[in-house]
Amino acid sequence: MTDSTLTPPDTRPVIAMGELSDYADGPALTDALASGARVTLSWADGAQAHFPLMWLRDNCACEACRHPGTRERLHVPLSPVTAAPEAVLADGNLTLTWPDGHVSAFDAGWLHQRRPGQEPTPIIPPRRPWAADYAPQRVAHADFVGSAAGERAWLEALLRDGLVLLEDGPLADEEVSRLAEHIGPLRPTNFGARFDVRSKPNPNNAAYTAIGLALHTDLPNWRQPPDIQLLYCLENDAEGGESIFADGFAAAEALRQQSPEAFRILSETPIDFRFQDEEQDIGTRAPVLSLDHDGHMLEVRFNNWIRDSLCLPAHEIDAWYDAYRQFWHLLHSPQHQLDFALAPGQMVAFDNRRVLHGRRAFDPNTGRRHLQGTYLDLDMLESRLRVLSRPA
Ligand code: OGA
Ligand code: ZN
Ligand code: ZN
Repeated sequence: MTDSTLTPPDTRPVIAMGELSDYADGPALTDALASGARVTLSWADGAQAHFPLMWLRDNCACEACRHPGTRERLHVPLSPVTAAPEAVLADGNLTLTWPDGHVSAFDAGWLHQRRPGQEPTPIIPPRRPWAADYAPQRVAHADFVGSAAGERAWLEALLRDGLVLLEDGPLADEEVSRLAEHIGPLRPTNFGARFDVRSKPNPNNAAYTAIGLALHTDLPNWRQPPDIQLLYCLENDAEGGESIFADGFAAAEALRQQSPEAFRILSETPIDFRFQDEEQDIGTRAPVLSLDHDGHMLEVRFNNWIRDSLCLPAHEIDAWYDAYRQFWHLLHSPQHQLDFALAPGQMVAFDNRRVLHGRRAFDPNTGRRHLQGTYLDLDMLESRLRVLSRPA
């Protein structure tokens, strides 16, 4: 059917769709035509799309089809929908009456966002590789804790660049945990939910000594290494101890260009990673570079001190070490490596499955160096950004 009255988007009533993200300001519908196995919709902005009947029936947001409290789906799409519903436009929104009498109301803006072939406007920023002039985005501690805009800026930089700096924070024990809990629950590991990085007697980890740490990712010996690492600097006046970072995805792309064979070996050869102390023996087998189905970088696992002995056929071993050496040199080359000293009151946060981190050796006889760290799941960062993007 056709409704010739154009309803301006600002006056269109909003239909509740069991959805907390913003969809209210989408354009009104101007035409709806149910024909065969689909409904063809047109909007005031000129967009047009075909929606399969099954999809529309499955997305009915009435109280019987979607729980009004949890917003979760109750409808189970087990019956094929073959007969067309009656389609009516009212105030620029869509009402469908199905052959069995069930009525489904759809918000025009909600449908506009979900029209087939259309990617929804991304709230999560796409990853951007570090360019030659990359410098970390800085967010003031007061802005992060005091304003949604500050927290969003921090989240967006971390998701986009894989690293962000917070500065001018208090020199307070556990501040790192309080900041992390703004975003989500701390991700615990065998080093605790929150760990102290300083030179300690009887260390069970290279980070708890004063030695330099070459670029690495934390805990590649876990099946699911922590996604996001936060390191909060409380003291850093010993000589040395500067931080180093590299965009592992950018370095892996450089390796793919420079030596496709080395890239192939590191991405196709699972190797063993293993940590052992008196209580634990945690190991897993995975390649250094993991790719998605399209061959894009998904994850880097790189940590020389918890790399286990290679368990490969003898004729593959030299080629694996050669590929590893090439990737090591690329990561540590000035073109990929970022260096800066963390100041007390600064916190660096980075994507532990993309960005490698390390530090220069420090001399514990010249001063103190104390960082506090924790981890977060990426899901919690994305969730927080979606929540902060909801309509007020
Ligand atoms: C770590 C680590 C870096 C540093 O704790 O995992 O790499 O700067 N620390 O001490
Ligand atoms: Zn329904
Ligand atoms: Zn580390």
